[in-house]
Amino acid sequence: MIGFFDSGFGGLSILKEVIGVGAKEKSSLADFDFMYLGDNARAPYGNHSPEKIYTYTTEALDYLFKQGCELIVLACFSASANALRKIQQEWLPKNYPDKRVLGVLIPTAEEAIKETKNNRVGILGTRATINSGALSAELLKRSPNLQIFSEAAPLVVPLIEEGWVKKVETKKILRYYLKPLKNKKIDTLILACTHYPLLIRDIRALVSSKVKVFHPGVAEKKSLTDYLQRHPEITSKLSRTGKRIFLATDRLDDFNRLGSKFLGEKVSAQLVTL
Ligand code: DGL
Repeated sequence: MIGFFDSGFGGLSILKEVIGVGAKEKSSLADFDFMYLGDNARAPYGNHSPEKIYTYTTEALDYLFKQGCELIVLACFSASANALRKIQQEWLPKNYPDKRVLGVLIPTAEEAIKETKNNRVGILGTRATINSGALSAELLKRSPNLQIFSEAAPLVVPLIEEGWVKKVETKKILRYYLKPLKNKKIDTLILACTHYPLLIRDIRALVSSKVKVFHPGVAEKKSLTDYLQRHPEITSKLSRTGKRIFLATDRLDDFNRLGSKFLGEKVSAQLVTL
């Protein structure tokens, strides 16, 4: 089974692209079994310290590995930016040396580098993601000539969680956060939060039509497909019956209602305690 983890239901926007919900062509990853865990009891992670994010994330990983996941995707920028490196270097070798954890930073960084023509890239993310500097570091490691402009948008996740996706107030707040990035003449904008794809149309409409705004789930799908091809020793252990299991740590009704919007198909989660 492939595990997907997010602080809440944002990661479902990534899972949606990976398994191809609503896509014209069937995704090559659709037959794999997926277990999705949203830690909505402790969300948003984006306003927590790196230490707290690391502790919460390892608790979630432990839970998912104990349920039989072989490979887990941190479908959360805040967790990928603040915890993944330490997890891969220290926690995983000590606790689950045969299992793997991947994140969303590298696939997104690689996609942005492919997209930019003028080397001016914007990042919109949670406070924890922007403050970590981890995504900028991944970008610069691969393309040292980039000019990167980052903006933390702490009000956006709570608005999405309230279901305020179509409200004019949300558009106004987005305009406020996007203005400094627009002024920097970026040609590529990274949505460095798995909640933001729900607003991708508004975001595209608010920046110039020349700015490329790609879906982080599309980058993740490419990267995961490639990873599974390169790692048959992991892929051969993954079950493929098309099963989907959803787990949440609080408010199942909210999780199912909003989660269904994020995924584009019905979500019916079980309550778990980490
Ligand atoms: N989904 C999270 C991320 O990608 C944002 C929500 C949160 O702050 O927990 O960073």
